[in-house]
Amino acid sequence: MSGANIQTGQGVQGACTQPLLSVRDLKIHFSVGKRSWGKPQELVRAVDGVSFDVDRGRTLAIVGESGSGKTTTALGVLRLSPVTAGSVVLDGVDVTALQGEALRRARRQAQIVFQDPFSSLNPRQRSGDAVRAPLDLMNIGTRAEREARVDELFTQVGLRPEQKMLFPHQFSGGQRQRINIARALATKPDLVVCDEPVSALDVAIRAQTLNLLAKLQRELGLTYLFISHDMAVVEHLCDDIAVMYLGQIVERAPRQQFFSRQLHPYSVALMSAVPTVSGGRARAAHRIKLVGDPPSPIAPPPGCRFAGRCPVAVPACSQSLPELRELEPGHWVRCHRVEVIDGRARPILFAAEAVGA
Ligand SMILES: Nc1ncnc2c1ncn2[C@@H]1O[C@H](COP(=O)(O)OP(=O)(O)OP(=O)(O)O)[C@@H](O)[C@H]1O
Ligand code: SF4
Ligand SMILES: [Mg+2]
Repeated sequence: MSGANIQTGQGVQGACTQPLLSVRDLKIHFSVGKRSWGKPQELVRAVDGVSFDVDRGRTLAIVGESGSGKTTTALGVLRLSPVTAGSVVLDGVDVTALQGEALRRARRQAQIVFQDPFSSLNPRQRSGDAVRAPLDLMNIGTRAEREARVDELFTQVGLRPEQKMLFPHQFSGGQRQRINIARALATKPDLVVCDEPVSALDVAIRAQTLNLLAKLQRELGLTYLFISHDMAVVEHLCDDIAVMYLGQIVERAPRQQFFSRQLHPYSVALMSAVPTVSGGRARAAHRIKLVGDPPSPIAPPPGCRFAGRCPVAVPACSQSLPELRELEPGHWVRCHRVEVIDGRARPILFAAEAVGA
């Protein structure tokens, strides 16, 4: 979609320098298939060594093709998916180690808005009850306080408190997503994961919903982990970008740096595919046409996971997995073929080999 009329999130930088969220070497592997004698258990390596920080009041976008592990990463951060290895430190506390009451308390701090505003609401539950549900579940406040909080949340998301008596089918898609946002905010979280929050909505109301998210961020100092396929939305709303490919981050950079110059061939390919309002292609650093599908996450190739689709791959790329390296301040890239000359990172032979693809 076009990003027209979308206000930016304008991250609110707190005085505290510790990131609100710090993820280190996160791995989420799922066992699949039957165990059989003499054969190792097959594992889907949905998330395979992901690390990032998000400062308080900022928005990190996670982008990448379907199946790259974006949602699983987010579910791991929220402890809604079992974590195989690594750490998730939220406001100074490693939530991967928490159980029972401590985990419940941590869950107040991090909530999620799902993609589909239709299936994420129970059709038989009044909207006010849905928004109040997390408060009931976590036993927060008295009954009267919870009702007052529901009224406040309805107002915050641009609905009228009296609409809390209505059922989901009595709202439009955009209004239902507002109810989901209100529900996510009920426990006054610091971190909100937005998993494709507007992709199921009509184009006409996407910008309104994104503007609401940006306004709430400014007013409440929220930190967003924002998952999207839409690079125009990402450019308008996010402070930093992480590009995922087959369970790993392949590039991570501040917004301006990323959009002015992508360094990983996969990021270039993603940007090459973005149509602009004028019908042309968005500002990719070069042009790379993405062909074929990613390999299976069950047995990822031994070297660079993008090697089979990368137009600038050389044989060495398939021999060892590149590290995610900080090649310029804040700009991290997982590729053997990026060099740093006089402090400036530069893809090797991109122009010669990929232009015109
Ligand atoms: N519970 C599970 N069991 C087995 N495999 C899973 C499970 N959940 C996710 N996967 C696999 O993990 C990989 C990553 O899935 P994930 O849903 O995180 O991708 P995504 O980037 O969010 O994709 P999309 O853009 O389509 O939402 C996929 O190969 C998926 O099939
Ligand atoms: S390491 Fe090689 S195959 Fe992988 S992205 Fe870089 S150039 Fe392409
Ligand atoms: Mg997903």
